Amino acid sequence: MTEPLVVIRKLKKHYKIEKQFLKAVDDVSFEIYPGETLGLVGESGCGKSTLGRTLLKLEEACSGEILFNGIDILKLSQREFKPLRRNIQMIFQDPYASLNPRMTTRDIIAEPLDIHRLFNREERQKRVEELLHLVGLNTSYAGRFPHELSGGQRQRIGIARALAVNPSFLVCDEPISALDVSVQAQIVTLLKKLQNDLGLTYLFIAHDLAMVKYLSSRVAVMYLGNLVELATSDALYATPLHPYTQALLSAIPIPDPKIEKNRSRIVLQGEVPSALNPPPGCVFSTRCPYAKEICHRIKPAWKEIEGEKGHFVACHLVKGNEEK
Ligand SMILES: Nc1ncnc2c1ncn2[C@@H]1O[C@H](COP(=O)(O)OP(=O)(O)OP(=O)(O)O)[C@@H](O)[C@H]1O
Ligand code: SF4
Ligand SMILES: [Mg+2]
Repeated sequence: MTEPLVVIRKLKKHYKIEKQFLKAVDDVSFEIYPGETLGLVGESGCGKSTLGRTLLKLEEACSGEILFNGIDILKLSQREFKPLRRNIQMIFQDPYASLNPRMTTRDIIAEPLDIHRLFNREERQKRVEELLHLVGLNTSYAGRFPHELSGGQRQRIGIARALAVNPSFLVCDEPISALDVSVQAQIVTLLKKLQNDLGLTYLFIAHDLAMVKYLSSRVAVMYLGNLVELATSDALYATPLHPYTQALLSAIPIPDPKIEKNRSRIVLQGEVPSALNPPPGCVFSTRCPYAKEICHRIKPAWKEIEGEKGHFVACHLVKGNEEK
C-alpha cells in the first residue's frame, strides 16, 4: 500500500475574535496520496481556504499534526520549514488579486526562484521560458503585465509561478471559480496534463461537487469547519451517505431532462450557522432533515464505514456509527 504524502490529524485552526473563538477548522483528519487529486468541497466560509493555508504554514494551526513525507511541519519553525516549502505550493482563486500588478509575468514567475536563490540570470530566463511553455503560453508573454492578460492567461501565470520550484504538492484554492466556463475546462485540462507529466499531487478546493468531479480521484466534503464525508469520487457520487453530501449532490442539474424532471431535490432550510457559535452535537443538526435528539447533543465520530474501505463519514444515522 502506498504511503500517504500528506497526513492531517486532528487539525484545529481557531481564530480568537474579541473574547470568542471562531472554529474555522475543527478537528479535521484525512490523508492525501501521491499522484492523486483530492477534491475538497463545501459552502463559502466552511474553512476550505483556512485548511489549505495551514498546509503551507501560511496560517499557524492551533493543534493537531500535518505530516508531509512523514515530517510534522507544525513542529518546524518557519526557517526550518523553508526548504520543505518548495515542495508545497498554492494556486489561488483570483489570479488578478494574487499577481502583483507592477511586475511583469517574467518576474512573477521567477519570484519563487529568486526567494530560494536557485538560478543565475541566464538560467532564470531559460526556466521562465520553460514554465511559460509548460502552461501553454509562448515566450512573448514574459514582458506583459497582469492587466495585459485575460483571466485564463493570468491563471496560467499563477500556475507557472507555483510550478517554478518543482513542487510535488499543490493546494489549488478554487483556481477555476472566477473564470468563464469555457476557460475553466481549459485550465482543468492543463492541471490534469501537468499532473500526469510531472507526477503532481493536488488538493483541489471548490465550492460545489460538480466542479471537482472530473478532476478528483477522491472527494472530501466540509461543513462548518468539519469534514462530514470522504470517499472515492465513484462512491461519493453514486452512494453519498451524509445528508449534507446528499443535499449538495441533489442540487447538481442532470443534463437528461427526463431524469432531471423526476428526481427529488433536497432543499436545505436555514442558513449555515456562524463558526463563532456552532451548534452543539452534529454541526449539521440545525439544517439536517433527519436530525434526531442525539444529534443535538453528541458530535458524531469521524469513522470509516464498515466493509467499505476508504469511505469516511460523520453521522449518527450511518450504520456502524450509531452511539450506543
Ligand atoms: N484571518 C482570519 N481571522 C478571523 N477569521 C477568519 C480569518 N480567515 C478566515 N476566517 C473565518 O474562518 C472561516 C473560514 O473561512 P475560509 O476563508 O477558510 O472559508 P472558505 O471555505 O474558504 O470560504 P470561500 O468559499 O468563501 O472561500 C470563516 O468564518 C471566516 O470568516
Ligand atoms: S448526525 Fe444527525 S444531524 Fe448530523 S447529519 Fe447525521 S442525522 Fe443529520
Ligand atoms: Mg476560500
